[in-house]
Amino acid sequence: MSTNAHNLPVQIPLPVDHLSPTRSSRGKAGLATVLRPIRGISAEVPKVALSDICLSYRTQSGERLLALDNINLQVKAGEFLCIVGPSGCGKSTLLHLIAGLHQQTSGQILVDGKRVQGPGTDRILIFQELGLFPWLTVGQNVEFGMKMKGVDRAEREEKTRYYLRLVHLSQFKDSYTHQLSGGMRQRVALARALATEPDVLLMDEPFAALDAQTRDLLHDELERIWAETGRTIIFVTHNVREAIRLGDRVALLTFRPGRVKREFPVNLPRPRVLEDVHVAQAAREILDELREEINRSLEVEYNVGVKPRVPTGVEE
Ligand SMILES: Nc1ncnc2c1ncn2[C@@H]1O[C@H](COP(=O)(O)OP(=O)(O)OP(=O)(O)O)[C@@H](O)[C@H]1O
Ligand SMILES: [Mg+2]
Repeated sequence: MSTNAHNLPVQIPLPVDHLSPTRSSRGKAGLATVLRPIRGISAEVPKVALSDICLSYRTQSGERLLALDNINLQVKAGEFLCIVGPSGCGKSTLLHLIAGLHQQTSGQILVDGKRVQGPGTDRILIFQELGLFPWLTVGQNVEFGMKMKGVDRAEREEKTRYYLRLVHLSQFKDSYTHQLSGGMRQRVALARALATEPDVLLMDEPFAALDAQTRDLLHDELERIWAETGRTIIFVTHNVREAIRLGDRVALLTFRPGRVKREFPVNLPRPRVLEDVHVAQAAREILDELREEINRSLEVEYNVGVKPRVPTGVEE
């Protein structure tokens, strides 16, 4: 087992095609008493399966806008899937569908082989905006989701302590969120999401607004938590290097309508660092294809062939 920047153990996952982690292979001794075992881990049944997903929105002018077109994606239990694509290609929309917050126009989404028909406690969406409550302390924010689930007080308190330790915020349990930095608030949001013990974490550009040092730290922490808890993560980002840094696999979506253009397995050993030459090489291949899509989006926008501006966070 290798260690990350904080000398914390990180399991090196197998290449994506052979990835079928079990709870015991990912878990650490002692966690089992705190964490609910993850259901539905099976080599055959994908954790999340999207089949022929199409979604169209009705625009202000009453026209239909096809946002997602025939998306087929399967995510294995315990897998870390990153999704990249140009702005407006439907990444957030896709997470909303998996979270059960919207209904697709056609196609079906299965989680553990069961059809998604609305939100469920087996999935949680972490927005960029976080949604923390400023009138509650850090500890109360982490407890909030559990309270909604009807978890009793003693268990809530135990899990709040556990998850705050996991994100290294034990000392800030009684602070209010305005007393924390952006990165610390992000960690509170992560602890709150983890505390409800969803099998699937849906993360929509969670680190986009953070400075580079805080983001690097949170990459390490998210990877450690993922390795320790065996959760399945679907992570949307604009930053291709971030996707390579974190993902077992990267799915690239096309510009509107969003389709899966290509999937890239990431078979680099963990932990990875953003500056690593192999990470840069892997990112370059994806960036070349992403640029084509960004180009298309600019052509549609301006109706001219404009040299693409590489958005922040996808620089080489
Ligand atoms: N509620 C809505 N009503 C109408 N159109 C919508 C709605 N939500 C999203 N869209 C459209 O669907 C498309 C996909 O939007 P979405 O937010 O999923 O993109 P995205 O890939 O997450 O973009 P970004 O990278 O900028 O966050 C866009 O063209 C957007 O304008
Ligand atoms: Mg989005």
